[in-house]
Amino acid sequence: MKQKKIRIAAATTTCYFACRFSYLKKLVPIDRTVIVTDQHVYQSHASLFKGWNTIVLKAGEAYKIQPTVDAVIEQLVNMKADRHMWLVGVGGGVITDLTGYIGSIYMRGINVGFVPTTLLAMVDAAIGGKNGVDHLTYKNLVGTIRQPSFLLYDTSFLKTLPDSEWKNGLAEIIKHAVCFKPALFRELEKNNLGFYRRNKRALNRLIEKNALLKFNIVQEDETEQGLRRLLNFGHTLGHAIEMIYTVSHGEAISLGMVAAARLSAQLNGFKATVRLQQLLAKYGLPTQATFDLDKLMRVMEMDKKKTGKLVHYILLEQIGRAQPQLLSFPVIRNLLNQLP
Ligand SMILES: NC(=O)c1ccc[n+]([C@@H]2O[C@H](COP(=O)([O-])OP(=O)(O)OC[C@H]3O[C@@H](n4cnc5c(N)ncnc54)[C@H](O)[C@@H]3O)[C@@H](O)[C@H]2O)c1
Ligand SMILES: [Zn+2]
Repeated sequence: MKQKKIRIAAATTTCYFACRFSYLKKLVPIDRTVIVTDQHVYQSHASLFKGWNTIVLKAGEAYKIQPTVDAVIEQLVNMKADRHMWLVGVGGGVITDLTGYIGSIYMRGINVGFVPTTLLAMVDAAIGGKNGVDHLTYKNLVGTIRQPSFLLYDTSFLKTLPDSEWKNGLAEIIKHAVCFKPALFRELEKNNLGFYRRNKRALNRLIEKNALLKFNIVQEDETEQGLRRLLNFGHTLGHAIEMIYTVSHGEAISLGMVAAARLSAQLNGFKATVRLQQLLAKYGLPTQATFDLDKLMRVMEMDKKKTGKLVHYILLEQIGRAQPQLLSFPVIRNLLNQLP
């Protein structure tokens, strides 16, 4: 196991990489801890939860809503949970977003830790302190920014992760590689998913590298004024695709990344679009689709990250170097319309 303390503003998060779930007993007092998890994780790993106070929620984004928060708070009250209690989210990004939020508002804030159990939560969702819930069609509209005290990484959880969920995490890993890390991009080109699934050490290293990459960005820019924006690569269009079509987050941002790479070729002379497409395809992600551009533009214009009529579109200069560019919607529409 490898321990790493990361300071973000006034908070410190300790990461326990290549760890075992059983180590949780050393991090929190079992009699003053409530675990929040979902039905899928609970059913797939039931024996791990023996002896722990556990709240089991229904799984899925549809339950990342205020009524779930209220139901958990009611259970905490029934358990007589006081402000010395720990709340530990064991699950994917839905559970870590919910647990982080509940932990930051219950009694004005109690101790929180996470055990991410999806690849996406390990390298992305559980990191950075953003948490909260959806409201009607608005994703993550309500929430807080607050860092968890620890993240415990036990990659044996991933043995039960469905293939479709692996792809969501891989899309974010490829995003990290193409925006920041040429060496990681080459490593991913050389290997494939089967290799990482068979080779626990390589998988642990891949996850640690990607988690630390996100931590470093959040450390520099907790509130998304600059560097953290680059993590939105592929997401401006990707979120719109995800809202309109029945595709997963990973599939949507894969398509968003390809479109952004093509815009980068037009605007900045980016030359590696085909390499990016090949890498995405190697990890089972889509690189081509036909869209209703008018619909996509309408959804993009509602995006909460826009600045007036302009949007910080993240473009590539080369593999490993991304830059935000302020573009207006008519310009984006025009550029997307010209794509081959
Ligand atoms: N806070 C952030 O910065 C941030 C960043 C990215 C995404 N997110 C949020 O994360 C969420 C998506 O996260 P996710 O993809 O992990 O979704 P999720 O939590 O819904 O998990 C995906 C599915 O996998 C199941 N699952 C989880 N772990 C499992 C395991 N080990 N074995 C078998 N099944 C398992 C879950 O029950 C669920 O059905 C979204 O709500 C998104 O908004 C937050
Ligand atoms: Zn994403």
